Amino acid sequence: MVPLQISVAFLQRSARQLPFPETNMSPVNITIRNNGPYRVEIENEGDVKLVDHEGNAVAMPGLKFSLCRCGASLKKPFCDGTHSKIGFKGAQEAAAEFDAQRGGAVAGSPAPAAEPGAAQPAPPVRAEGPV
Ligand code: FES
Repeated sequence: MVPLQISVAFLQRSARQLPFPETNMSPVNITIRNNGPYRVEIENEGDVKLVDHEGNAVAMPGLKFSLCRCGASLKKPFCDGTHSKIGFKGAQEAAAEFDAQRGGAVAGSPAPAAEPGAAQPAPPVRAEGPV
């Protein structure tokens, strides 16, 4: 079996699950935790190769580990729990919060004009970390 290569940059950009069918047969399961990291569970060492943006192998800490999705971990590419301290919100929750701050406008559309002198809403929490 050819080892699967997972690019850290890809995982940090993507909020989607890799295209493995959700069965018990998958040698690798990647779960997107709500407002948290990518939880990676590997059946056998050698099924997965974790590489950096240049294709260099990154040592994995075992068969189960979490990859940072918020961009704030001091142990990148692995999660160190900082996401919970900074109030990281996953993409859907961040988009809904952003829309609510803009008066119900759809993310990506222009914000409604503010009343003169009205307080500006706080900027939304970033949904994705640096690439
Ligand atoms: S997702 Fe946990 S520290 Fe970034």
